Amino acid sequence: MNGPAKARAWDLVGEHYWNSGYYGGPAPEHQREFTRRMRPGARTAVVGASTVSLSTAAQQAGADLHVLDFAPGILRAASHTLGLVEDRRHLVDVTRPIPGHLKQAYELVLADRLVNRFSAHDLPAGIRGLRDLVAPAGILAVTVRFGLYERDSEIHAALTPAEQALFWRPDAGEVDYSVLPDRDIPLPVWGAISGDVMRDHLRARGREARFSRDELLSTVAAAGGLDCEDTIDATDGTVLVVLRRPGAAGQS
Ligand SMILES: C[S@@+](CC[C@H](N)C(=O)[O-])C[C@H]1O[C@@H](n2cnc3c(N)ncnc32)[C@H](O)[C@@H]1O
Repeated sequence: MNGPAKARAWDLVGEHYWNSGYYGGPAPEHQREFTRRMRPGARTAVVGASTVSLSTAAQQAGADLHVLDFAPGILRAASHTLGLVEDRRHLVDVTRPIPGHLKQAYELVLADRLVNRFSAHDLPAGIRGLRDLVAPAGILAVTVRFGLYERDSEIHAALTPAEQALFWRPDAGEVDYSVLPDRDIPLPVWGAISGDVMRDHLRARGREARFSRDELLSTVAAAGGLDCEDTIDATDGTVLVVLRRPGAAGQS
């Protein structure tokens, strides 16, 4: 739902996400946890082209790296940065049905806070889409932030009560960045990206789910086909959730 607008949000930022003095990747502890699961030659998918630190680590580990993203501009820019050939980059919205040739195609599927980018409506489909990429015995490792982001609380505090009611919907478990007003309110600063671009970027992201650990794990359980192997907390408050598809390697 609303995929094209969300994709445009990321293309507004494009390569400035990793090229303008902002580090938007995983916590260092999680970067290490992701990296130690990478294997030479293993088909490895990074979902979310903006997380170039993960893609670079996969290349350095000798993995067979594929990058998936629903935003054509950021996918192109990241592919250029990484030197990815065409059959290693895939324009895919993981909240939509996964194309047949990518189903169960990856021993390792990695995503940094991608799950936080889904709307509440799309969260179950996004989990199913990520699951469908994973080969038997393969791993899906995703970082998430539970509850509101600090920036959500700061934005919420700067809004009028009427705006607050539109911005944070506890009943739906969702924030809606599309309602951000024109006036000066605290917005995140990502390196040299201007305040105007940041506002347009966030507005286009629209609705994003905010959930608890139990809510996420019950969504994973309801999707089926993945066992939770581990959850690893980082000091920045994010959590790495490691899931495995049962089965024997090489069977699909
Ligand atoms: C991985 S997320 C989060 C990046 C960063 N680590 C953070 O926490 O802000 C952002 C990336 O995922 C991509 N993305 C977001 N939703 C997507 C979806 N439904 N399918 C595929 N790619 C998506 C965006 O285009 C962008 O490149």
